[in-house]
Amino acid sequence: MNAADSTPTASTTPRLRAVLETFPPYIPGKPPREVTGLQPFKLSSNENFLAPLPEVLDAMVSHAKDPAHYPDDAAVALREGLADRLGVGLDELVVTTGASELLVALTQITSDANTEAIYPWPSFEMYPQTTGLAGSVRREVPLSADGRHDLDAMAEAITDRTGLIILCSPNNPTGPVLRDAEVRAFLDRVPAHVLVALDEAYWEFATVPDRVRGLDLVRDYPNLVLLRTFSKAHGLAGLRVGYAVAHPPVIEGLRKAVIPFGVTDMSQAGALESLRHWDAVLDRAAQIADTRDAFADALREQGWEVPEAQANYVWLPLGEKSAAFEDACVEQAVAVRNLEAGVRISIGEDEALARVLEIAERFRAEHFAEVRSESAEVGPESV
Ligand SMILES: Cc1ncc(COP(=O)(O)O)c(C=O)c1O
Repeated sequence: MNAADSTPTASTTPRLRAVLETFPPYIPGKPPREVTGLQPFKLSSNENFLAPLPEVLDAMVSHAKDPAHYPDDAAVALREGLADRLGVGLDELVVTTGASELLVALTQITSDANTEAIYPWPSFEMYPQTTGLAGSVRREVPLSADGRHDLDAMAEAITDRTGLIILCSPNNPTGPVLRDAEVRAFLDRVPAHVLVALDEAYWEFATVPDRVRGLDLVRDYPNLVLLRTFSKAHGLAGLRVGYAVAHPPVIEGLRKAVIPFGVTDMSQAGALESLRHWDAVLDRAAQIADTRDAFADALREQGWEVPEAQANYVWLPLGEKSAAFEDACVEQAVAVRNLEAGVRISIGEDEALARVLEIAERFRAEHFAEVRSESAEVGPESV
């Protein structure tokens, strides 16, 4: 044996953190498959299918001429626009590259291997990713059978080590909103030193009168932070703009964790212009909400059990039949989102939704007729 043989062989794989083994990567919604003779539709990422507002496009173009310079790191004009619109102070706002960056920043300022994170499940897939990356123990609290947060169980999960609690209203992927009274009762049970994030990515689509309204709550609870985005109702997912609303100490903390110059000048300009068309944005969200209600009702008429749908998508709790349903959609050039517990269908063009309704009807006839004949006790509602 010579000296070279006794040298420990260098591993060919760089040593990465062990926590990476504990959660999956984020998996984006798939594009639709090309099928001859059928227009493809992507209903897998909860994007806004309406055409962008022309004024927003113009604002983007006029701010796309100076790529040599960094954008305004403090996003002052956009924050001023938001402060005016929302009735909050400039020091109560931070602008980020989508709400996604906020989720990362929030875990960085609250969580590490000594802390625990509480969030509902199933919910947005980034929650396990960001809290897992921080190394914190994940307390995933199962939703109730109708797709709602179990706030009692979430309150009971709080310990001395709780660093972050996330609520999602409307919940992605199941759809229901939290109610104002239940969230206040919950927050009253949370120790004041524990930060609670209310993810309101889809708030503009929610229509039930007693829904939680983060802006009212955040005034009363200094440990609450709201997560919002221009990706959904504003239809600007490609611009990557989100923002948080919270009391100044939380915002100061977040500003230390966000990426400098993350939001480009063009994105800031597009978002600001969209804010100037607030009424049009809300009208379009209401139009999508009407379509959603009609689509959810049509599915219910076919016999599906659809949970309260309050965002720009509808959830079918298909369980083990999710992959078969996704495949049936793929064959018809429609991409939906299979999340294993069920399938989430984003609201899209009338033609897309009509096609999904046809698929859903055929699917019931093929798959649930079988189940019924196997056992009269097992109906589609129990999958
Ligand atoms: C519940 C929820 N929160 C946050 C986000 C992140 O949004 P974005 O990073 O596009 O602002 C999404 C995106 O789908 C979401 O569904």
